[in-house]
Amino acid sequence: MAVNLRGRSFLKLLDFTPEEIRYLLDLSKELKLLKRTGMLHDKLKGKNIVLLFEKTSTRTRCSFEVAGRDLGLGVTYLDSAGSQMGKKESVADTARVLGRMYDGIEYRGFSQEVVEELAKFAGVPVWNGLTDEFHPTQMIADLLTIEEKLGRLKEINFVYMGDARNNMGNSLMVACAKMGINFTACAPKELFPTEELVEKCKQIAKENESTITLTENVKEGTKNADVIYTDVWVSMGEPDEVWESRLKLLLPYQVNKEVMNNAKKEAIFMHCLPAYHDLKTKVGKEIGEKFGLSELEVTDEVFEGKQSVVFDEAENRMHSIKAIILATIGA
Ligand code: CP
Ligand code: NVA
Repeated sequence: MAVNLRGRSFLKLLDFTPEEIRYLLDLSKELKLLKRTGMLHDKLKGKNIVLLFEKTSTRTRCSFEVAGRDLGLGVTYLDSAGSQMGKKESVADTARVLGRMYDGIEYRGFSQEVVEELAKFAGVPVWNGLTDEFHPTQMIADLLTIEEKLGRLKEINFVYMGDARNNMGNSLMVACAKMGINFTACAPKELFPTEELVEKCKQIAKENESTITLTENVKEGTKNADVIYTDVWVSMGEPDEVWESRLKLLLPYQVNKEVMNNAKKEAIFMHCLPAYHDLKTKVGKEIGEKFGLSELEVTDEVFEGKQSVVFDEAENRMHSIKAIILATIGA
């Protein structure tokens, strides 16, 4: 059956079939080609979208802004201090107001319930630009990048190292299960995803002929990997106090040369970014100096090395977000 995503919200990948995800990947590729060849694609001229950000962002915000403008959309950006939402107006009321003015709403914030509530009341597509639980727009960019770099998704061995129960760990496990990629979370058991989500993903993976593995063993977990992926060890919204315990848990899971050498020769390194691969950031410097470290979740050598595809991955955020907007608003 032909895929039609018009009017749908994009809240988490669990809501989408592999065929629908495939459709978004193919549309991302088409739009990337149009952009690269300088062909106009302002198919949504005359429509408007609003971006609500309760947490900071570089990639997601800029992707929505550039993608929106390329599609001919008017774009409004509101940060947490810039609207009444939450303080003076409920999520449901905000959704009903914005839904009368805009053709789509992006939300980045804390709880998944908020983005689900916005979608329930808005009457227009709502896109999850990251919550504590899921980061689904990042998934389309990541799948696109894997397919571009390795030529396929099926039978890929994907290893996620680090905080496997954060928004990235959760989302990547779901994305892999949906697309028939073998997923391994290589992490301390304290940071494994919830049993409920793991069981759900195991069931989905089985339908798509792939596997879900959780291991604390770095040597075994990263052997034969096609993709090594990591994310920051402390996510937005977590208190600074967690750094100490997180470092203790996660230092053995740093992506370094030894890890990359244990993976397949042609393996790629991925990271959703931003990354603490050196001390050239305020937080990186503070944490590095406090704990005597020069790099955190990934070494500078791996980040800057030949196997790293992080900036192609970052570019793909824009192409894939454009596909999500176009598919759900509909030309
Ligand atoms: N990867 C990602 O979502 O980056 P931003 O936080 O900069 O949007
Ligand atoms: N886990 C990270 C992802 C950033 C894109 C965070 O939530 O801060």
